[in-house]
Amino acid sequence: MADLPPAIDDIRLLLAEALGQVAACSTAEALKAVESAVLAPQSTLAQHLRSIPKLLPELRGPVGREANEAKRALLAACQARLAALEAAREGDLALTEWVDPTLPGEQRGGGRLHPVTQVCRELEDIFLGLGFDVLDGPWVEDDWHNFGALNIPADHPARDMQDTFWLTDGRLLRTHTSPVQIRALESQTPPIRAVAIGRIFRHEELDATHENTFHQVEGLLVDRDVSAAHLVWVLRTVLHELFGREVETRLRPAYFPFVEPGFEMDMRFRGRWMEILGCGLVHPRVLAAGGADPEVWSGFAFGLGVDRIAMLRHGIDDIRHLMSGDLRFLRQMARGTEA
Ligand code: PHE
Repeated sequence: MADLPPAIDDIRLLLAEALGQVAACSTAEALKAVESAVLAPQSTLAQHLRSIPKLLPELRGPVGREANEAKRALLAACQARLAALEAAREGDLALTEWVDPTLPGEQRGGGRLHPVTQVCRELEDIFLGLGFDVLDGPWVEDDWHNFGALNIPADHPARDMQDTFWLTDGRLLRTHTSPVQIRALESQTPPIRAVAIGRIFRHEELDATHENTFHQVEGLLVDRDVSAAHLVWVLRTVLHELFGREVETRLRPAYFPFVEPGFEMDMRFRGRWMEILGCGLVHPRVLAAGGADPEVWSGFAFGLGVDRIAMLRHGIDDIRHLMSGDLRFLRQMARGTEA
């Protein structure tokens, strides 16, 4: 190569070096940097190109060709490298960010109604359909509404039937929904047809059949000449609607201070009698305590255990599951209960 003009040598070296740099580029940015460094006005190659007119005439041709060829080769190499880098990048994207449009959509777990809430709402609908008003009552009650007005005076042994959570100010957490009977009598003049659905509290030892928080539906009907036959008809109609079939029931005499006579109603479920509610004809003292003249008015009342119904329906054997807040349990109860 001794006979080559030094400029040509120089250009070949420079080209070889630049091609090496181009091949080593792994990003489009690096490539751009190499390209502009090699072609910049102050670069060696640019200087060679600019010097061509000043060369000896016989050198202008060969050096000019060499320099222009080098520039062309360099631009072509840059373009090819850029295309290769783009292709590689798209290949990576195809591996890491691909989307399969045939996949089913992401499943979002929707909220569901608690089995007790569900039974409460169904009962509310059924009673509304029978012309009952739906009333609300406070969870924190006073002695008068929870006991006194319901014919349970202070020293009455019936207070022991329901173990009470007492508050320090003498009030209490209602032990049943029956105080809403008194509130209904106080705020309305008969005839009255009302239900109250909600939470109640008992100071119980917990086991599979005892919770300290559960739910009742209280019913009160006050009118003229109300009999136990009316009571039984309403209860059987409601149970029929709730279970979607004729249900077998029986009444047993039972004692509640606020009704006379008083009964418990059992329902036959999978061959066994289950107690599901207390009921009876409203005691004259209760009517009077609520401001209704017992000589004119009579009525029936009942208190239905909602949790028991939810347990029967779902085959739940331990009442403590209901208030446990355990989502695994609740999800099992989900069939057909989307909110
Ligand atoms: N309050 C009673 C209880 O909780 C149920 C009941 C209500 C009984 C109305 C008779 C009439 O056990």
